[in-house]
Parts: sequence; C-alpha cells; structure tokens
Amino acid sequence: MKRILITGALGQIGSELTLKLRDIYGADNVIATDIKKNDSEAAQSGPFEVVDVTDLKRMGEVAQKYQVDTIMHLAALLSATAEAKPVFAWNLNMGGLLNALETAKELKAQFFTPSSIGAFGPTTPKDQTPQDTIMRPTTMYGVNKVAGELLADYYYHKYGVDTRGLRFPGLISYVALPGGGTTDYAVEIYYEALKNGRYTCYIDKGTYMDMMYMPDALNAIVDLMEADPSKLIHRNSFNVTAMSFDPEEIAASIKKHIPGFKLMYDVDPVRQQIAESWPNSIDATAAKEEWGFTFEYDLDKMTKDMIEKLKPKFQMKISS
Ligand code: SER
Repeated sequence: MKRILITGALGQIGSELTLKLRDIYGADNVIATDIKKNDSEAAQSGPFEVVDVTDLKRMGEVAQKYQVDTIMHLAALLSATAEAKPVFAWNLNMGGLLNALETAKELKAQFFTPSSIGAFGPTTPKDQTPQDTIMRPTTMYGVNKVAGELLADYYYHKYGVDTRGLRFPGLISYVALPGGGTTDYAVEIYYEALKNGRYTCYIDKGTYMDMMYMPDALNAIVDLMEADPSKLIHRNSFNVTAMSFDPEEIAASIKKHIPGFKLMYDVDPVRQQIAESWPNSIDATAAKEEWGFTFEYDLDKMTKDMIEKLKPKFQMKISS
C-alpha cells in the first residue's frame, strides 16, 4: 500500500495528481502539502499540511508523522519566472529538491520529481530529440532541471533511493492554470478563444514545442511509479510527449470548433528565446520500451475535450 507525500500539491500538476492518487490509493494515503492552504478540492479532500520545501526539518516532520513510503516532489518555479528571478529559482528549485531527496533517503521512500523539455538547450538535436543527448540548457530553469536529474540519479546510485522522473513537455489542462511557463500560451489560448474569440500570442508562429494533455501526464506518472524497477535502464528522467505544434496549428484545431477564432501575435522576446532553445519534438522511445508509456490525446482530441470542459465556465454559445 502506498502512502504518498506530495509537495506543490496545489500547483498545476499537483491539483489534479492529488485527486487521482486519492482515487487510486485512498484519500488518507495521499498527504497534500503546499506553501499555503486554499479551498481547492486537493486541499480539502484528504490530509493537508503546510510545508515550505526549503525547510528540511518541517518536511521531515510531516513525512515522519504520516510514515510515507513515497515522495512526489512537484514544488518548483517554471521557466519564465525562474528567468526573471534566477537566484530565487536556484534556491527554491534546487534547495527544495535536495530536501525532498534527503527526506526520501531518511524514510527509504520511493521518489518522483518532474524534469522538463527545458533541460535541453540550443545545441541539443532539435527534432526527435533522443533520450540520451547533449544537454546544455541556457535558462536557469533548464540548469535546475539538468542538475536535478543528476542529483536524483546520484541518490539512486549512492543511497539506493528509488528515484524516477519524466521530462514533461508543456502540460495543458482545464483545471489549474500554469503560471510563469513558456508553454502557458497553449492553455491561455483556449480560455481566450472561449472568452473573447481571439488570442494574442507571445510565442511566434513556426515555433514548435512538445505538449501533452494533463490526463496523459497523470497516467504517465502513475505508470512510471508502478513500473518494474528491473526494466528501468533510465531513471532521471524519461522523455515523454504526445504532440508537437506551433501556435498556428493549435489555432487551426480551435477553429474547427470556433470558426471565427482569431490569432494575433505580440511576441515576448524573453519567452520566445526560451522556446527557441528547446526541442521542436522529442523522442519517447525509451519510455515506451522500458515501462510502456502510451498516451490517448492528440491535438484535436485534446482541443475537443478542452472546449467541452471549459465551455460551461464561460457560459458562451459556440458553434461546434
Ligand atoms: N511548461 C514548462 C514551462 O514552460 C516547461 O516544462 O516552463
């Protein structure tokens, strides 16, 4: 039986992962933690503790109190925010990760933390980026992710901590909004399409990035954590992706449901530069071979679901 502690449980991934894990493993076996509490379902539907991930003592006390056997460490700054506050990002992203790994070591707990396509850089092969390749990111977020992958591997080799990770692409969801990421446009575009019928995009046309719909991302986390360790050649972290598109292609997909939708551009040089330093598309063969990674949603299937799920929020009639 798993007993899981999640950090950053009220963030973009955590808000949904907490509920999914409570469904699978039982509400009392999933301890949600975040820097502050709110009235979301993730905070209210089971145990919740306030934990600042830079406070090792507090994290250790909460992990001990609930005798957890798994730690899922999600608390981190995304790429654009990290670029604006690089020292803070280093302290939070690396300090938080080190504390979470130390806690996992003490409790002999299994460990998950997400990496990202941001771990790649401008000298990485851009198309079908292999699992094992050049990783020289030029963003603070990317530096944190590469260092984090190495640190998680270090805890596996040195201390036997069962660390596992995924290099996530941009994650798209109708539940929790991301904040401060470079791929956030691919979420905002659906909200603006439904609200105003138009969207001004900060990423330029022709800029391709990998993306994945949140239900597939959550399944990938559960499947990786349940995978037979003897089959894992890699650990930190696996390339996973479900689609790659540029702003024009997601707009075309939205237009199938909202024919009058208009896409305009006002390119943000900072986020554009980050996007250009990342791959166009990554290769998830290692994840497929080593633990059976699959996904269900391509761009059009995701668009249909996003629009269906968001439509009631805006109470707007659209032709579909
Ligand atoms: N979605 C993340 C970001 O844009 C990438 O992992 O920062």
